[in-house]
Amino acid sequence: MEYILLKDVEQYLNQEVTLKGWIFNYRSSGGIYFLQFRDGTGLVQGVVVKNSVSPKVWEDCQKITLETSLTLTGKIKSEKRSPYGYEIEIKDLKLIQIAEEYPIGKKEHGPEFLMDQRHLWLRSSKQWAIQKVRNTIINATYEYFNQQGFTKIDAPILTPTACEGTTTLFEVDYFGKEKAYLSQSGQLYIEAAIFSHNRVFDFGPTFRAEKSKTRRHLTEFWMMDAEMAFAEHEENMKVQEDLIYHILQRVLEKNIEDLQILERDISFLEKIDKPFNRLTYKEAIKKLGELGSKIKLGEDLGAADETLLTKQYDRPIFVEKYPAQMKAFYMKHDPEDQDLALCDDLLAPEGYGEIIGGSQREDDYEILLKRMQDHKLPMKDFGWYLDLRKYGSVPHSGFGYGLERIVAWTCGLKHVRETIPFPRMLTRLRP
Ligand code: 4AD
Ligand code: MG
Repeated sequence: MEYILLKDVEQYLNQEVTLKGWIFNYRSSGGIYFLQFRDGTGLVQGVVVKNSVSPKVWEDCQKITLETSLTLTGKIKSEKRSPYGYEIEIKDLKLIQIAEEYPIGKKEHGPEFLMDQRHLWLRSSKQWAIQKVRNTIINATYEYFNQQGFTKIDAPILTPTACEGTTTLFEVDYFGKEKAYLSQSGQLYIEAAIFSHNRVFDFGPTFRAEKSKTRRHLTEFWMMDAEMAFAEHEENMKVQEDLIYHILQRVLEKNIEDLQILERDISFLEKIDKPFNRLTYKEAIKKLGELGSKIKLGEDLGAADETLLTKQYDRPIFVEKYPAQMKAFYMKHDPEDQDLALCDDLLAPEGYGEIIGGSQREDDYEILLKRMQDHKLPMKDFGWYLDLRKYGSVPHSGFGYGLERIVAWTCGLKHVRETIPFPRMLTRLRP
């Protein structure tokens, strides 16, 4: 490349380099211009001294606006007083496009305005840092599963069936012949793949027509589902714990500067260790009662309960063995108490709440058939899933995580809307 990236700037100390990027701030003072410059991989301050550049370069400096794109050439100097550690003594610059007046300024903007400007807001330093953390989490997930011998299996997005119940399905017209639905989770499909590959995972967009406006719900979000042949409930939770721990270590390794930009108190993340906390559903209800919640046995934990409960802990918390009747049809029941499901939700601490849902799956043909009949699931659509219990059925378990929930927690964000480049919510489809 005839230009360098700012992430590599250390290698070019005291050398003349060319950079390509954008102006995110600037000021002038007499015969000097200070240009705050970013190229998407780092930040640097450029200094233009009137007497050391051509009249044309000095003239072009006067035309610079916020977000103007340009090429800079100059010498890289170490500069302790600069927050970036380096400065570039600019010799030459070429404007690529002089940006029009930029709508996002220094003043405080409300969230709705910023969301309307999401295509531009993505450039601001906090939004930049969030996407870098998200990227680390995605890569750490792939890395973990590759190390553990899982095969990535791509589940379909257009499906004839519901995975997690019919209340939040997005409907699509399928050639005027029938209805299709956008996938809520790839789980049922990757269960088929364990009989071919033993341990598998998927990672893709999932869709839920969530009609509530909450800090935790998007209508389009990214889910990773994992599924393991021969794994039972305990092992399922162990893999969840290892995966989340691995992700946290990678974020702490690769994103300290990003977490600083986000003003995240990383001591909360640093002190997380294994094993994670564990409560049964019953214990969680009791504990919530003691904490002042009105929740009763038989009721699902609401967002407020999850917040209340997880504020008590400094590590993630497994809540396991929920009443089976409040959970999905495919979950195996606890042999020690048939009213309970062999399932778990993993809740992130500091009030964040559910990041993973998982369970051991019902592997017995007759029991699953009865369950599907009780739930009135059409055999035309679910027959293939039942079929899996006819040909070499084995105990198996799996789980799914919500990427945006994990990003919100690690970055210390109140709302999931900033964790995804273009959020889709009840009241937002644009930009
Ligand atoms: O708990 P859920 O509904 O579980 C499943 O879909 C299972 N089929 C997964 C499996 O066993 N393979 O969803 C899994 C996770 C939740 O724990 C949460 O983190 C996230 O997906 N999630 C959402 N994230 C953002 N917006 C929403 N509307 C979400 N709904 C679920
Ligand atoms: Mg769940």
